[in-house]
Amino acid sequence: MKKLCAAVNAADKRSHINREIYGNFSEHLGRCIYNGIYVGENSSIPNTNGVRKDIIEAFKEIRLPVLRWPGGCFADEYHWRDGIGDKEKRPKMVNTHWGGVTEDNSFGTHEFFDMCEEIGCEPYLSANVGSGTVEEMADWIEYITFDGVSPLADERRRNGREKPWKLKYLGIGNENWGCGGNMRPEYYADLYRRYQTYCRNFSGNELYKIASGPNVDDYNWTEKIMGIIGDWHAKAISLHYYTIPSGDFAHKGSAVDFTDEVYYQTISQASRIEKLIDKHSAIMKRYSDNMKLVVDEWGCWFDVEEGTNPGFLYQQNTMRDAMVAAVSLNIFNSRSDVVSMANIAQAVNVLQAVILTEGEKLVKTPTYHIFNMYKTHQDSELVYSFTENFETNGMSAVSQSVSLGKEGMTMTFANISLDEAAHIDCSILGFKAKKAQARILTGEVHTFNDFADGNRIAPSEHTVDITDSGISFDLPACSVVSILLS
Ligand code: AHR
Repeated sequence: MKKLCAAVNAADKRSHINREIYGNFSEHLGRCIYNGIYVGENSSIPNTNGVRKDIIEAFKEIRLPVLRWPGGCFADEYHWRDGIGDKEKRPKMVNTHWGGVTEDNSFGTHEFFDMCEEIGCEPYLSANVGSGTVEEMADWIEYITFDGVSPLADERRRNGREKPWKLKYLGIGNENWGCGGNMRPEYYADLYRRYQTYCRNFSGNELYKIASGPNVDDYNWTEKIMGIIGDWHAKAISLHYYTIPSGDFAHKGSAVDFTDEVYYQTISQASRIEKLIDKHSAIMKRYSDNMKLVVDEWGCWFDVEEGTNPGFLYQQNTMRDAMVAAVSLNIFNSRSDVVSMANIAQAVNVLQAVILTEGEKLVKTPTYHIFNMYKTHQDSELVYSFTENFETNGMSAVSQSVSLGKEGMTMTFANISLDEAAHIDCSILGFKAKKAQARILTGEVHTFNDFADGNRIAPSEHTVDITDSGISFDLPACSVVSILLS
């Protein structure tokens, strides 16, 4: 067992951890919306306006702060008018990006906004630039947020919603360097300026506009759009980064069957996000002190499960995914001065999902449990923390973040080593703990929850001793420990 010292200084506040860092992303892709979140009002599965009640409860439990919708690539082919009004009359379309399946538009604007209200999360719209018009986008904002008299607000009322909804987060396009129109940064940036001009702040609603940012390490994209957009028209730009062990989309590998070497490659690839954030934000800072990064697509991308539609991106989720989530969220916390939001891809049944469903059954994945264990970081203040470390496979084994919030001090530690446990002696300055509530998530790294057993990986209570100078606790190999001190 490695004996490690750690230190926390509660008086040394670094940055505010926006609760939106704990966001999710939901796309009309595979079984994320249909046969996932949304089963329809007539389903025998208990639902509220067609949305599964157990999913609503699960999202409430992790205090889901924000949900991005309707895509992804789907967003730049989505025409919001198809998804309002009488469901019987809504036009059907082909979902060309994701499996060529029929989209019947039964889940649209009202269904999404009502669901967000039910969950208590902010809606985050990703609006169509690739194949949509300026008028279409402007109308959508007016339809959703205008409280006065206008043909669009009246139409919303006729469709059953008297009062407008609040809409803060608005993404103007998605991946416009790729599926969102294959644009050059200069062209997109000009389009961005034009589209956003007509997205008005109606009836006291204030939009937080997000420009479509770079893919991975495309620093040229960031440089160009920052130069043209600046911070006059946008609050943030997005960043997309998926963890693929080989770093190559053509060789993603299995979600459940991997060697130790591939496990460490996965963690190493996931950790790249730290450098990406630093480099993109350094470029952004040359143009603005205020612009933020919204990491609105992140997570593991593996091969689809055998026998499933390749266009549905359905993958299992093991203890490896939990380690990726823990390390990534510690990084986002540590970079919360520049990262204002992050959205794991995706919420249900797609990629690194927090929830998997099959018929009426629902499974909370190891990744879900990390979101649950980290939730008291939401809207708290990051404080200085340091852990003496040891190396495993060329990486620091222990990652941590510590914050002070309403409920006390939250500390999250992850030990990525598959074979070395650690004991942490942590001195804490400026905060005297009376009570420690701790949970641990650990297990053999290939273990996953499924519909036969949904509890193979689940958090359990963990022992933390309160010492004269702080706390001390064990951090087993391949484990994540969250501690709430009060
Ligand atoms: O999350 C799956 C897809 O990945 C999204 O639709 C797209 O934005 C990204 O390329």
